[in-house]
Amino acid sequence: MASTITSGIPETLSGERIEELQQIAGDHMFMHAVQINDWRGNLRIYVKGEGVWVEDVHGNRHLDAMAGLWYKAVGYGRKEIADAVYAQMTAIDSPPAGSSTIPQIELAGKVAELYPDHGARSFFVSGGSEAVETAVKMAKKYSQLNGKGGAFKVVSRRYSYHGGTAMAVSLGRNPAADPMGPEMPGALHVTNWNSYRLPFAGDPVDVAVKCANEIEEVIVHQGPETVAAIIAEPISAAYGIQIPPAEYWQRLREIADKYDVVLIADEVITGFGRTGEWFAPTNWGVQPDITVVAKAITSGYAPLGAAIATKKIADAFIGGPKETFRHLITFGGHPIASAAALANLKIFEREDLVGNSRRMGTYLYEKLQDLFSHKIVGDVRGGLGLLAAVELVSDRENKTPFPADAGLAKKLPKMLFDRNMVSFRAGDVITICPPLSINKDEIDFIVDAIDGALDELEGELGI
Ligand SMILES: Cc1ncc(COP(=O)(O)O)c(C=O)c1O
Repeated sequence: MASTITSGIPETLSGERIEELQQIAGDHMFMHAVQINDWRGNLRIYVKGEGVWVEDVHGNRHLDAMAGLWYKAVGYGRKEIADAVYAQMTAIDSPPAGSSTIPQIELAGKVAELYPDHGARSFFVSGGSEAVETAVKMAKKYSQLNGKGGAFKVVSRRYSYHGGTAMAVSLGRNPAADPMGPEMPGALHVTNWNSYRLPFAGDPVDVAVKCANEIEEVIVHQGPETVAAIIAEPISAAYGIQIPPAEYWQRLREIADKYDVVLIADEVITGFGRTGEWFAPTNWGVQPDITVVAKAITSGYAPLGAAIATKKIADAFIGGPKETFRHLITFGGHPIASAAALANLKIFEREDLVGNSRRMGTYLYEKLQDLFSHKIVGDVRGGLGLLAAVELVSDRENKTPFPADAGLAKKLPKMLFDRNMVSFRAGDVITICPPLSINKDEIDFIVDAIDGALDELEGELGI
């Protein structure tokens, strides 16, 4: 079938050409974290996007309910970002080593303006994993400069995700990662917060504080002088959109202060408006020491990440050779990506996308409650911006997960796709993370698609 694409690419794509592309991909490409046999010959190839919609080579339109992979905050097809990139690329694409460009400088200023600590200083990199690596190295060096010379340990939570690089995987200890042998020495793991399956019995707020207190126990047991940092996602997406009560992050802040440990917020997903605030800990009145961002800072129009240090942390690196942060990523904060980020953030402010995230997030969460009419819906999580999850169970009363051979992770994306919705993360937990520019009609479309897919699934499972 011919494509109806009109901009930037051929108007029509012949069946032969599509087949040729499938062949090349099938023979020569890795897709990230997906089994080759699961897509070979049948790879979805997209050629155009506008708002929350994407169009494939066959001319089919789908609503992207995952904003790419958690990043397409301003939606697809923003020509002004392309124009900003073009202008910078034709002026000077990248500067000589040891110098900078106007968009990099302006972006550092813009981030400090939006960040709760306006004295903040950004170390720009190319993506989330690099930003995590940067934050951890910065925390270790800060600890050394701050009189904790032997501090190298980092406390993180089980089932978190902090990136795909070798150090970052040892922080998350995510069961979905390939085993890589010994972890980073000093990687310490504690119980993660889970609102649906509380890790301990009791009142949820008490349980959340108990989870946080486990970090204190580990720090005391290991020796506070050996621990450099605590790292956590404000809302763990990898663990199924786990939104803690305010007391959790407030307690993390107290513990970090008490033992002089650097508190790192991994906001690769939540940073820049996802939770209805520019930065998620603001919801709970907490200021971390270092904030890790990527994804929405450019809405994926170009790769960029950053470790944002508060003034207190950053000022420790001002001095002589001993204080220098000897950390270098060749393409970190690339001017093209910085230009894209500035144009992206201009759209955020002009269209009040952070406010829209808050308002539409509330609407989405309310609409998702209707799905409890399906017996297999065990939990609906959300209500803090445009990040939500629907968790499916075989027995609601006992919160019994479906067995792996029910194959939900393969069936549901297809059932949703048949209803013109793309959801990369749909299985036991259906994750919803649409562009922040979404409107009510488009949210209705998502909830209707999930509703229809659950009808079909229940029919197939004989429920
Ligand atoms: C919370 C979190 N941290 C870090 C990363 C790693 O980011 P990247 O894939 O850009 O390296 C991700 C990626 O999804 C993430 O969700």
